[in-house]
Amino acid sequence: MTEKDRFARDVLHGLNATPKTLPTKYIYDARGSELFEQIMHLPEYYLTRTEHQIFENYREAMLQHAPARHFNLVELGAGNGQKTKLLLEHLLATDRSFTYYPIDISQSAIDQLAGNLQAELPDLEVEGLVMDYFDGLTWLNQRTHRPNLVLFLGSNIGNFTPGFQHQFLENLWFSLQHNDQLLIGMDLKKPYRIINKAYDDAQGITREFTLNLLHRINAVLEADFDTGSFSFYSCYNPLVGANQAFIYSIRQQEVRIGALQRSFHFEAFEPILVEQSFKFSLPEIEQLAHRTGFQIEDHFMDDRSLFVDSLWLCHKPE
Ligand code: TRP
Repeated sequence: MTEKDRFARDVLHGLNATPKTLPTKYIYDARGSELFEQIMHLPEYYLTRTEHQIFENYREAMLQHAPARHFNLVELGAGNGQKTKLLLEHLLATDRSFTYYPIDISQSAIDQLAGNLQAELPDLEVEGLVMDYFDGLTWLNQRTHRPNLVLFLGSNIGNFTPGFQHQFLENLWFSLQHNDQLLIGMDLKKPYRIINKAYDDAQGITREFTLNLLHRINAVLEADFDTGSFSFYSCYNPLVGANQAFIYSIRQQEVRIGALQRSFHFEAFEPILVEQSFKFSLPEIEQLAHRTGFQIEDHFMDDRSLFVDSLWLCHKPE
């Protein structure tokens, strides 16, 4: 299946669902990624900045239980590597022996990250893996037999539904070895107003970012979304425990998607759910860890308790 086929299939699946959904990951084309860079620098978007501060303040403590012998520092998702760079610099300065393996399905994301790091940290051993996360971990364990410290940052886990969060962590547990560590970034529950502002900024960057999805469907799947007759809405839903971002149709209309050879009907004010960003309490995090086979070693938080990087141990007694 080509990339376009997969995109078409996912759009078909989402628009046939009740309520309609669209898969967020397709927001990130060149334009979407550029807009997300801008979001990460917005005053309202506290997530990236806060996790970066946590790394600045606690990188030494985070690594204090890191394996003594040569280990794999594995990162699920490549990102732009800013936070990881703080860890890498520290590890290189303390003379620890490790290889950094970012895993991402995007060849370009891996090439960019590995290229940048190689230039900035010439002593770093880095090998990007263009694979599915679990395939990458399995491949690594078969080849190296080294202990792993796995990073899953940015509250990416929060973009999965609770059922899939469990499944993902269970799969991760199966892909790891006894005493491997996981450092997982999670956005904490907090006053709703702070979340609402983070996901609906005053400059309208998040609106443009989200609506970019319709532009991309138009461009890649030969669709005729009239982007002016769709709007953006976002709010934290305390019953669900997640921020929910929507695109909604402001009038009744039909949209033709050429690549699917069919049209879709939208009622006036019909919502399309685009992204859920789940927020966690510490007891919820503890429950999630224990249910999926991990022991919590430590929580690293900012002074306002907005965000936590939680260090988990994979527990597999034989
Ligand atoms: N997935 C990220 C998050 O939950 C990025 C994001 C921020 C986002 N604002 C968004 C995704 C709006 C979709 C819509 O924080």
